[in-house]
Amino acid sequence: MSGESTYQPNNGFTKWMDTRLPLLRLAHDSFVDYPTPKNLNYWWTFGGILTFCLVTQIITGIILAMHYTPHVDHAFNSVEHIMRNVNHGWLIRYIHANGASMFFLAVYIHIFRGMYYGSYKAPREVLWILGVIIYLLMMAAAFMGYVLPWGQMSLWGATVITNLFGAIPLVGDSIATWLWGGFSVDNPTLNRFFSLHYLIPFLIFGVVILHIWALHVPGNNNPVGISVKSEQDTVPFHPYYTVKDGFALVVFMILFSYFVFFAPNVLGHADNYIPANPLVTPAHIVPEWYLLPFYAILRAVPDKLGGVIAMVGAIFILFVLPWLDTSKIRSARYRPLFKQFFLIFVMNCLVLGYLGAMPAEGVYITLARICTIYYFAHFLIILPLLGLFEKPREIPESISASILPETAASPAE
Ligand code: HEM
Repeated sequence: MSGESTYQPNNGFTKWMDTRLPLLRLAHDSFVDYPTPKNLNYWWTFGGILTFCLVTQIITGIILAMHYTPHVDHAFNSVEHIMRNVNHGWLIRYIHANGASMFFLAVYIHIFRGMYYGSYKAPREVLWILGVIIYLLMMAAAFMGYVLPWGQMSLWGATVITNLFGAIPLVGDSIATWLWGGFSVDNPTLNRFFSLHYLIPFLIFGVVILHIWALHVPGNNNPVGISVKSEQDTVPFHPYYTVKDGFALVVFMILFSYFVFFAPNVLGHADNYIPANPLVTPAHIVPEWYLLPFYAILRAVPDKLGGVIAMVGAIFILFVLPWLDTSKIRSARYRPLFKQFFLIFVMNCLVLGYLGAMPAEGVYITLARICTIYYFAHFLIILPLLGLFEKPREIPESISASILPETAASPAE
């Protein structure tokens, strides 16, 4: 699909380089002359936005690490030192903390986009699986990052999550002790979380390279979900999509800036400005907003081990999504029933998020149970059956035909 290389080195240096390490050729063929479906909409700009988020997190994180101290006696104060004394430390920290939220906002849009347009279906299964691996790594990085300021929510969030490993039969307690490096969440835990929090974004970077490679072999999916059939269906990536992605990025940065400059703490929990205290448990221990749906699933199951299995299963089920959806039609545009169920699924995830923030009691827990069952039913019952019984709408002949149906044949007015 990527076809022959169109790169022409035009000076002595680029010619010399091209016969030794053809990096410029790779960049040109991947991001300049890359044939891209001409009907991509704004939902396709989030891959670029995510790349921006990853780079922003890495750069601000490296600067924060220059002033942060991963020790239980100093961590909280070192963060306050960054906020008050380090030049622009407040800015770097707020970009990093809110950047995590923006990263998840973008990744959720990116994932739901993939689900709506069937981007996980053949031949893009490996691309999708790499995406799920990235998502898992993102959750691990975000969870460990939240522990670093060593506030009350840091300590107790880490305690709740690491204690989940204790639910594993026989070896659970030994695993928890091993993870902590002691008998509770303490200095060795903080230190190793810092080390891993620094490492994981670079792992994500590596998997993102594979993700884009796996994208460039079959090429992009597109809003109609029909494969590219001729050159007519594509435009070169540059300038068409560099400009579109650039514009979307600017809009995204306006929202990002709003949080950083006007509401830098609304997405966090006030308790994390109280230094960690192992003797005082906060009234409500809640994770960051982006982990809330999974937290709701965890607490919906009355049994601890069952809750852990449901929570882990809720993520791992994404790995097999390409094989659970039995419909050959990719885009929801031509799947009238799937479109409705997709909307219900998105709302179900939002409700789970809301319930994750509520106390695990009364009507909240009942609703969380219903939503958890629906979450799994969507993947295990609805998707397989829809593929068998749904009658899809008529598919256009090609991408070009879908954009210019009748007008293409009639003369311009
Ligand atoms: C650091 C996180 C990520 C980065 C930087 C990233 C980057 C990209 C880029 C640049 C593209 C092409 C442009 C676009 O389609 O938006 C893309 C496509 C895609 N990504 Fe991601 N991605 C990330 C996470 C994920 C996750 C978590 C998933 C799914 C679980 C995923 C699934 C996909 C799929 C299926 C496509 C193909 C889209 C299509 O052609 O329809 N990605 N990604």
